[in-house]
Amino acid sequence: MLPSALALLILIGFTASPTSGDSEDPSPSVYLSVCGKNITPDAQSFANNFVDAAEKISQNIKTSGFGTSSSGDTLTVFVLGQCYSYLSPPNCQLCFDQSRSRLPSCYPAVSGRIYVDGCFLEYSDRNVETDSVDSADAYACSNITVEDRIRPVFSKSTAELMGNLTGEAGRKADYSQVGSVTVAPDLTVYGMAECWRTLNVTGCKDCLEKGRANIVGKCLPAGGGKAMNAGCFLRYSVDSFYANQSSSAGGGGGDSSADRGCVGPVLQYAGNLSRQYAADRVVPSASSRRLLATDLISCR
Ligand SMILES: *[C@@H]1O[C@H](CO)[C@@H](O)[C@H](O)[C@H]1NC(C)=O
Ligand SMILES: *[C@@H]1O[C@H](CO)[C@@H](O)[C@H](O)[C@H]1NC(C)=O
Ligand SMILES: *[C@@H]1O[C@H](CO)[C@@H](O)[C@H](O)[C@H]1NC(C)=O
Ligand SMILES: *[C@@H]1O[C@H](CO)[C@@H](O)[C@H](O)[C@H]1NC(C)=O
Ligand SMILES: *[C@@H]1O[C@H](CO)[C@@H](O)[C@H](O)[C@H]1NC(C)=O
Repeated sequence: MLPSALALLILIGFTASPTSGDSEDPSPSVYLSVCGKNITPDAQSFANNFVDAAEKISQNIKTSGFGTSSSGDTLTVFVLGQCYSYLSPPNCQLCFDQSRSRLPSCYPAVSGRIYVDGCFLEYSDRNVETDSVDSADAYACSNITVEDRIRPVFSKSTAELMGNLTGEAGRKADYSQVGSVTVAPDLTVYGMAECWRTLNVTGCKDCLEKGRANIVGKCLPAGGGKAMNAGCFLRYSVDSFYANQSSSAGGGGGDSSADRGCVGPVLQYAGNLSRQYAADRVVPSASSRRLLATDLISCR
């Protein structure tokens, strides 16, 4: 019974992908969801409070790309959401809607966070506004490779770019910076670094530094890397993921198809993680059938 239901979902997941071409799929891809280990005693009330808190921030997300809120006197749910600065308002809305509909796959865990192409959303039973780094921090490396002879200069330039961007983002009022560097006539690398706006300067710096060290130290010379920490997100890619956003074409972040494949998501339990996974080697967690279905459907 269950295996066949599962097989059906897998079938749906796979047969749906070829028909929904990248350029027509309006949903930004999900990179990673991280669910807490603890379970709420009253999933229904908790879920209601999440829905209410998420609704409260949706207006702020629309107008300023950022919001925090809480809901419920008992079983209080805190929510924090942020769109990356380069996202246009319509794409921000799209990204928020995507993350809001996906994050409940963490129920009945009392906390969860999701990294989507263009935005971040988190809920918890405690206030997470100053969380900077923690044990659930993760990074993912792209399987895109750069030509042998360009690799040394590519690695050097990318490391320098990410060093510059993290320094600049930490000093800016909105804690975000994007930039690019041309490595060879036909090769440019694009990068971004962004903290959640609720952090203080120290928290932001610590977060960016950890993320930078991870992707520069462990992903290069891969053609792309993403750091997904409690308080920030960093990325570099040979694809111009932030440039020339258009609200109608392409998904949330304007990912090119090359970097888009099944990059995630994968369910990870905070506190016991394998923190590294090559983007192309993510295997859906066998421990959660519900999430397996989600994985397959979002991997298009
Ligand atoms: C990093 O910043 C320095 C100083 O502003 C600049 O000279 C250099 O070109 C930048 N490098 C990259 C790769 O962005
Ligand atoms: C900044 O935030 C961090 C947590 O992110 C906290 O540990 C630290 O005490 C804060 N520093 C100041 C000066 O408020
Ligand atoms: C955006 O696209 C226009 C024309 O398509 C091009 O001239 C411009 O350089 C692009 N900007 C970036 C940042 O890639
Ligand atoms: C993490 O998982 C491993 C194997 O899956 C297990 O041996 C270990 O006890 C777990 N650690 C914690 C802290 O749960
Ligand atoms: C990267 O991984 C994706 C998904 O597994 C795969 O479709 C693609 O061919 C891989 N690309 C390279 C360059 O290996």
